[in-house]
Amino acid sequence: MNQNSVRLIKRYGVLFVCLGNICRSPLAEWVFKDLVAKRGLDKQIYAASCGTGAWHVGEPAHHGSRAVGRKYGVSLDTHRARQLCANDFSEFDLILAMDQSNYSDLKAAAPKRTLATIRCFRDFDEHAESLDVPDPYYGGPETFEEVYRIAERSSKKLLDYIVGRMEGSK
Ligand code: 4NP
Repeated sequence: MNQNSVRLIKRYGVLFVCLGNICRSPLAEWVFKDLVAKRGLDKQIYAASCGTGAWHVGEPAHHGSRAVGRKYGVSLDTHRARQLCANDFSEFDLILAMDQSNYSDLKAAAPKRTLATIRCFRDFDEHAESLDVPDPYYGGPETFEEVYRIAERSSKKLLDYIVGRMEGSK
């Protein structure tokens, strides 16, 4: 490879954000990453998740999220919760809030000159009756099922959107 053939490829980063980073955003992250891998795009697109709060930092994903993920072939076993930090606004292109309260917190925390786009994850859900992903923390397995279905639907549209943007910038 000579100097002229070196190409810098800008990877596209997505960050999923909820309150505790143990229920909703880890499920969204790993469902999305599974889809990215299945489409062979994991060299071009990276994803992570975090919480606005610090209560669960270092903990694995909630057993309800792990169980529903396992049921559909998505492992969350390596997940460890972490809190949003200032660097996230420069590390990621798209930051997706799981509900409108997370969205307000993200907007308040964002540096004035951030280039990251902040949106709600359910902007990508064709069947959204609300912009909020329901919080399953106090719910039963059916709420985790609902979060899984939202994550699956929204991730497909999200990936189409990102691929469109990457193709548009070639
Ligand atoms: P998550 O769910 O934001 O989807 O991870 C929650 C996790 C923890 C708490 C609330 C919601 N909590 O109050 O500790």
